Amino acid sequence: MDGNGRWAAARGRPRSYGHKAGVEAVRRTVKAAADLGVEYLTLFAFSSENWSRPREEVRDLFGLMKFFVTRDLAELCANGVRIRVLGDRSGLSSDILGLIETAETKSRQNTALQLNIAFNYGARNELRRAFAAVAKRCAEEGRDPSQIGEDEIAAALDTAGQPDPDLVIRTSGEMRLSNFMLWQAAYAEFVFLPCMWPDFDKEWLQRAISEFSSRTRRYGGIDAAKDVAL
Ligand code: FPP
Repeated sequence: MDGNGRWAAARGRPRSYGHKAGVEAVRRTVKAAADLGVEYLTLFAFSSENWSRPREEVRDLFGLMKFFVTRDLAELCANGVRIRVLGDRSGLSSDILGLIETAETKSRQNTALQLNIAFNYGARNELRRAFAAVAKRCAEEGRDPSQIGEDEIAAALDTAGQPDPDLVIRTSGEMRLSNFMLWQAAYAEFVFLPCMWPDFDKEWLQRAISEFSSRTRRYGGIDAAKDVAL
């Protein structure tokens, strides 16, 4: 969800103003995704690298996460949204941990849209935790580590049980993966949009999905239809 800071600066306002407007874009996007039949939506809200930002900005981002979960949980549940928070929980305070657990528990039965919020998330950290969990189990069960399968690793990730993402959208013109879903995005299509996150809306989401629909996905194989035509 890139571009909150630049969006605010362009209006002569502090970065916190951009993040606040970013929450409105989050609300619009969750609704738009559900309307468009998206089944899984992941929003990268706070990365494990974002701790290096000024203390006030980190405090603002945590405040907005708490505000969003507290204020929107009832409505999200009423709309059938199931919430899962991805990321390392070991560095989070008890108040935010409590909110995360409440949101996940209360929305557990919902099936309209799976909303993942990546918070204190970094893909290398996620992989490290997953590998450690798999290695521990392997040692306990006296198994040969060379028998560890990809499915077992996928099942130890924060996204366990969910399909890999088809589409990764990055706003604000940045063209980097920035430690996001390094395992899961192996075959994802990438769409980079020139829009700052606070301006993101249903039209931008439709545009990204339509770009995605025009792509041919080969998963390392060949495009059989084109091969025949040639
Ligand atoms: C990146 O833009 C944005 C973030 C690091 C924070 C995103 C957080 C929110 C939109 C609000 C909280 C989220 C939820 C789900 C309630 P940037 O600050 O790096 O902007 P810049 O690249 O223009 O400086």
